[in-house]
Amino acid sequence: IKHLLSAADLDADTATLILDTAAEMATVAGREVKKLPALRGRTVVNLFYEDSTRTRISFEAAAKRLSADVINFSVKGSSVSKGESLKDTALTLQAMGADAVVIRHPASGAPHRLANWVDGSVVNAGDGTHEHPTQALLDAYTMRSRLGRLAGLQVAVVGDVLHSRVARSNVLLLSTLGAKVTLVGPPTLIPVDISVALAPGTEVSYDLDAVLPGTDVVMMLRVQRERMDTSYFPSAREYARRYGMDGARMRRLPDHAIVMHPGPMNRGMEIAPEVADSPRSTIVEQVTNGVSVRMAVLYLLLGGKNQ
Ligand code: CP
Repeated sequence: IKHLLSAADLDADTATLILDTAAEMATVAGREVKKLPALRGRTVVNLFYEDSTRTRISFEAAAKRLSADVINFSVKGSSVSKGESLKDTALTLQAMGADAVVIRHPASGAPHRLANWVDGSVVNAGDGTHEHPTQALLDAYTMRSRLGRLAGLQVAVVGDVLHSRVARSNVLLLSTLGAKVTLVGPPTLIPVDISVALAPGTEVSYDLDAVLPGTDVVMMLRVQRERMDTSYFPSAREYARRYGMDGARMRRLPDHAIVMHPGPMNRGMEIAPEVADSPRSTIVEQVTNGVSVRMAVLYLLLGGKNQ
């Protein structure tokens, strides 16, 4: 594939190839030689119109570990403040020799538009409430490395599904790879047609306590208050009581089950500190795995050799 715009672009073989390549990258990164020459002479542009800590930094680390040149573009301080459009910004970056553009944008579909305008590869690093495919890949990688498989896993994705690009990409990728997803949350935060629209077979539950005992993976989602109309803003205490992962709920999970969160977390709302910092939590591991997975994506998209 030339671009990575959606988890739906990935069939099972391609997704597995990315996960296997990421495992090889992790072996390299864990050794004394931390840098590969694979992308020497190539340029990766990080084009971030929305804030990010994990995704932006891990794409930068991934590109540098593959010896690519990295240009970090942030909207603040750029000519976007003078009204320059996404298209003109993209063409400017292309004129500077970008081989790949990693884009985060508040508008759903922005990476797809960008892919029509530039010659290089485009990677979606999160577009509005639509998708975040590399997050789904690093989540799948983390599940596979902790639990040994993806096929047949029962995964509960819990919370603010409505605004979550992480949830959408995970539903698509996990169903491609044979896991079974149940979306859990308040009815106001789960779109009514989501399982039909994304992946038939995805279940919906409004009762977290009923789902926990049969779950291998619980993926907690951040409540995205910045994307909400204040009229349906849940109270933190009420939300935590019904849908928060606290110590009591964690102890009702099967012994082998893991708790995930893409970050950033609202500690005390969707996840209690006792859970976030427990041995079942994979939150820090997810960040580490994100570098290997993004190395694999850049390596496979850019051909892994000088051109
Ligand atoms: N998980 C995630 O996308 O985090 P950032 O917003 O910090 O990149």
